[in-house]
Amino acid sequence: MPAPGQFYLLRTSDTLDPLLRRPFSILRWSDASLEFLVRLKGRGTLLLRKLRAGEDTDLIGPLGSGYPRPSDTEAPVVVAGGVGIASVYSLLETLGASAHLFYGARTSGELYLLDEIRRLTDNIHISTDDGSMGFSGSVLEELVEFLDETSIVKPVVYACGPEGMIERLVLLLKGRNIPGYISLEERMACGIGACLGCVIRTRSGYKRVCKEGPVFDVKEFE
Ligand code: FES
Repeated sequence: MPAPGQFYLLRTSDTLDPLLRRPFSILRWSDASLEFLVRLKGRGTLLLRKLRAGEDTDLIGPLGSGYPRPSDTEAPVVVAGGVGIASVYSLLETLGASAHLFYGARTSGELYLLDEIRRLTDNIHISTDDGSMGFSGSVLEELVEFLDETSIVKPVVYACGPEGMIERLVLLLKGRNIPGYISLEERMACGIGACLGCVIRTRSGYKRVCKEGPVFDVKEFE
């Protein structure tokens, strides 16, 4: 069984080239099914776009590391940007209704699964860059306001989203000494530890996002 934060490689081409598999976070699962959130965009998702119900495809997984659970005294705060909601969705299912979710995108049309996530937590903070839904501004601006204006005790942050959002979030958390775990799934190529195209430098040496990640402790970064 997968764990929240892990991913699968889905075949996205008719050829046998392993580089034409793409990583997708596991969204949710049961004994009989696996669900993924796929944004249909460009050649990489061509084959997935053509798949019909009942057709076979192939996939590899679950792969990578998942999100560690918060301790009993920590208050989980989940941050997602766009399709990054897929990575944290099953984590939210396990955290219960008191967890805070900060979910942002450029515009309301890029916010996914809104009805489903409203059933998972009572504390949803929506933001859009263009102001078309929720807070007008970035998800991190809204998070900063929340951290400044509330008295949340012992927050621990879990996040997945675009690279720029994650970079700024790491700086924010380190600056405030807030523990956190981030998913870097956007940086993968082969996804199976073979190409070294996903290597990043951490405080404890070079790590492959697809093998040692995609979830990393923010303490791993300068
Ligand atoms: Fe190829 Fe990680 S994506 S080694």
